[in-house]
Amino acid sequence: MKTAAKVIFIVDGVFATAIIDGLQPNPSSSFETSKESFDLSLDRYGITDARASGNVTHFVDNTGVNQVSILVLKKYESPILACAISEVLSSLAGEDTSIMPSLIFPFLVDSSKLKLERKKSLDENIYGIQIGPQTDVIQALASRHLKAPSSMQIHHEPLSCVLQLVRVLKTASFILIGQSGQHKTRVDDFEIICEIGESLASATSMQFVKEKVTWNPTKASKEPENEPWRALYG
Ligand SMILES: *[C@@H]1O[C@H](CO)[C@@H](O)[C@H](O)[C@H]1NC(C)=O
Repeated sequence: MKTAAKVIFIVDGVFATAIIDGLQPNPSSSFETSKESFDLSLDRYGITDARASGNVTHFVDNTGVNQVSILVLKKYESPILACAISEVLSSLAGEDTSIMPSLIFPFLVDSSKLKLERKKSLDENIYGIQIGPQTDVIQALASRHLKAPSSMQIHHEPLSCVLQLVRVLKTASFILIGQSGQHKTRVDDFEIICEIGESLASATSMQFVKEKVTWNPTKASKEPENEPWRALYG
């Protein structure tokens, strides 16, 4: 898959639409947008009844250079989820694994799925985890966000999956973790999304336009507490 050198990879579909709607080129930049879909085979993982699919939006500058790509993966459950993310990551590397784009993974995670030791809760709205080499865009994000404490426990499948895969790849990545539901009101989730959006925008020389965001919290959230696949693990 051909992408920009900066890729925003949204694995957790909950707020993909909000981010895509809000992220806009700067009026001064004359970026053009183009959209495409991807649909990758998972045969090599022994999965023949599902493929890794999703959409990509590219922001191309007036010299034809693709500046930012936003990639949204379709929703998958474990264990297909891990294969799908892994396949998309390898398709980003293309033939030359030494030129991997800088990857930014924004997440909005219910605060009940993030814990410190002794069940202490985490106070910040947003935490960051930096992995792999530093690039300008990663540095920009790292300077804006508090590092997630190393004792943070993550009980959120897509997030732990991304962390594991990216740590193995050691590619330049930044994971933004917004805590949802912390204050039990809708407004705050919206504000956290906007804060994440603004970070993404500033790191990629775009702007985040709150007014364009459609956020429907009732439709967006609530994964089932007991995912059926968990039964397989006893
Ligand atoms: C991809 O785009 C199509 C058409 O706009 C839309 O129906 C579909 O839900 C999108 N898929 C994802 C994963 O965003």
